[in-house]
Amino acid sequence: MRISHLSLTNFRNYARLELSMPPGMIVLHGDNAQGKTSLLEAICYLATSRSPHITADRQLISWLADSEPIPYSRLVAEVQTSAGLKRIEMTLLAEQRNNTTYLKKEIRINGLPRRVMDLLGQITVVMFLPQDLALVEGAPVLRRRYLNITLCQTDQQYCQALSKYEHTLSQRNALLRTLQEHGGRGDMSQLQFWNETLASTGALLIAGRYRLLRELERRAQRIQRDLSGAGEHLRLRYQPGFDVSTDPNGQIAFDAGDLGASALPELPPAEIADRFVEALAACRKEDLRRGITTIGPQRDEMRFLANGHDLGLYGSRGQNRTTVLALKLAELGWMQEITGEWPILLLDEVAAELDEKRRAYLLEQIGGAEQVLLTTTEPTLLPGQFMETAIKWHVKNGTITIETG
Ligand SMILES: Nc1ncnc2c1ncn2[C@@H]1O[C@H](COP(=O)(O)OP(=O)(O)OP(=O)(O)O)[C@@H](O)[C@H]1O
Ligand SMILES: [Mg+2]
Repeated sequence: MRISHLSLTNFRNYARLELSMPPGMIVLHGDNAQGKTSLLEAICYLATSRSPHITADRQLISWLADSEPIPYSRLVAEVQTSAGLKRIEMTLLAEQRNNTTYLKKEIRINGLPRRVMDLLGQITVVMFLPQDLALVEGAPVLRRRYLNITLCQTDQQYCQALSKYEHTLSQRNALLRTLQEHGGRGDMSQLQFWNETLASTGALLIAGRYRLLRELERRAQRIQRDLSGAGEHLRLRYQPGFDVSTDPNGQIAFDAGDLGASALPELPPAEIADRFVEALAACRKEDLRRGITTIGPQRDEMRFLANGHDLGLYGSRGQNRTTVLALKLAELGWMQEITGEWPILLLDEVAAELDEKRRAYLLEQIGGAEQVLLTTTEPTLLPGQFMETAIKWHVKNGTITIETG
């Protein structure tokens, strides 16, 4: 898959951009703060409806648009896929009502209005970003976000379940707060209703995350072995936000200690949902006391282990960078397998992040990609042979100059 044309209006520091995009390796180079990352961000946003940064979507609209009656930003991509040509349009509008800004997102696919849900999967991307190191070292919320963004690109059912789960969770939490204010007294039938929706949708999230991690682990293990000179055995451990294991004779043993993700059997969502309902009943008192849902996929965690040691706690910088690279390349392989085509690759500052060996490995692995956008402030860090054949664009102050020769 590839983007053949990209048009941006009032997006970050791009006031207006009309860009024809060829297939192949495109190197975006330029000084700091010129718009290299913002261009990748725009493509990521069109693909996932999320920025790779944890920012409010309002920040994507250019400051230059602030003086307009309704500040807006528009992103349009023409995409060539194995299924044909598509036109994806997104408009962000910052509407003011009662002194509050409301952000409205309008989406059109081939000219017809669509929901965010319909957008996901239209463009598939795999990103390599400097901040990805936080996937190993940072807070659990980043890992959950990663799992959600990755799964939503490829699995409509997961995406629908996620949206329903998040909605139900906030309804349930609101009810818990009301009940808490009344000393735990009130109509419990509503709580029971939310429990069942939470369990059925949450079970799909857990099953999806589990399946993904198992696939990623299998692939990442091989890559990690290549990169670490066979010295390191990588495991991805999934720790669901409630104890899925049942009684001692139980059918489901979820957290299998050092077994990681790939050694465990597939879990049917219906069984997970049953167990989830039981677990919600068991912690009802605690939930009422605290006025919040204390268990569930919103508390899920995944850990990276090398030779049994938790990299989030013990990994060196270089080791963790290798792990993230292995994870991302695993994601790429997995996405290719299930969608049947290369996703668009967005590589932000990988030259500065990786040493020569890892850089060469990455470039070799992505050699067959249909379209790659790679940013760098320092093109000399990239292999000469690679630079000779790559398409080179210079980014300066929100404009892009195509270099010839
Ligand atoms: N909403 C916005 N409106 C206008 N400009 C913005 C907005 N948000 C960010 N910017 C600016 O856009 C510029 C480009 O940022 P970007 O992150 O794309 O730079 P970059 O070329 O990747 O730089 P670096 O090499 O430092 O990573 C920055 O100066 C940033 O402050
Ligand atoms: Mg940047």
